[in-house]
Amino acid sequence: MPNAEELKLPFKKVRFSRTTITELMIPSYANFGGKIHGGVLLSLMDKVAYVCAAKHAGNYCVTASIDTVNFLAPVEVGDLVSLKASVNYVGKTSLVVGIRVESENVKTNVITHTNTSYFTMVAKTDDNRPAEVPGLILENEEQVRRFEESRKRKIEKLKQVHEIRTSRPNFDIEQAKQTLASERCIITIDQKENK
Ligand SMILES: CC(C)(COP(=O)(O)OP(=O)(O)OC[C@H]1O[C@@H](n2cnc3c(N)ncnc32)[C@H](O)[C@@H]1OP(=O)(O)O)[C@@H](O)C(=O)NCCC(=O)NCCS
Repeated sequence: MPNAEELKLPFKKVRFSRTTITELMIPSYANFGGKIHGGVLLSLMDKVAYVCAAKHAGNYCVTASIDTVNFLAPVEVGDLVSLKASVNYVGKTSLVVGIRVESENVKTNVITHTNTSYFTMVAKTDDNRPAEVPGLILENEEQVRRFEESRKRKIEKLKQVHEIRTSRPNFDIEQAKQTLASERCIITIDQKENK
C-alpha cells in the first residue's frame, strides 16, 4: 500500500498504478454468434484504464482516445477474462494506459491473448480543467521501450491527423475516382444530392 508521502510524489513508479480486473463472461454478454460482444470487452477495458490512470494521476480521468483495438481471438461464454493495465507514457495532463486482455478457459486452463490496446486518458481537476499528472519512474528496459513506443505513436498520430486535415481542401474527386477504381465501391454521384 502506498503511504501518504508517496501519493504526493511528483514522479510515480509504474507498479504504483498497475491494475488487473478479472471478470467471468456470463451468457448475457454474448452476441448473436454466441461469442462475447466486443462492446463488453471495450467497456471493461475502459474501466481498467480509468482505475490505472486515476491511481497514477491522483485525480478523476476521462478517456480522450483509444488506439488500435484488434480482436485477435473470440472470447467464449464461461471464460475468465483478465485485463492487465499499466501506465506506459505520461505527457503533461494526459497519460497512456497499455492494456493486455487474456481469456482463460477455466476447464482446460488454456490462456489466450485476445487483444492489446492503448487508452489515452486525461486527468481533470475537481472543477473539470485538465490537471497535471505525475511523471513516470521507468525501472526496467521494457518500461523504457513502452514509454518510447507510446511517444512515437503520439507523434505519428499527430502527423497523420495534420496531413489529413491539410489535404482536405485540396480533395480532387477525379483523382479519387482513379485511386478508388480497383476498390470494391461504385461511385454514383447524383448532382442534386451532391451539395
Ligand atoms: C479529452 C479532453 C479532456 C481534451 O480536452 P482539451 O481541452 O482538448 O485539452 P487540451 O487540448 O488542453 O489537451 C489536454 C491533453 O489531452 C491530450 N489530448 C486531447 N485530445 C486528445 C486525443 N483525441 N487523443 C489523445 N490525446 C488527446 C492532449 O495531447 C493533452 O495532453 P498533454 O497535456 O499531456 O500534452 C476533452 O476533449 C474531453 O473532455 N473530451 C471528452 C472526454 C470524455 O467524456 N470521455 C468519455 C467518453 S464518453
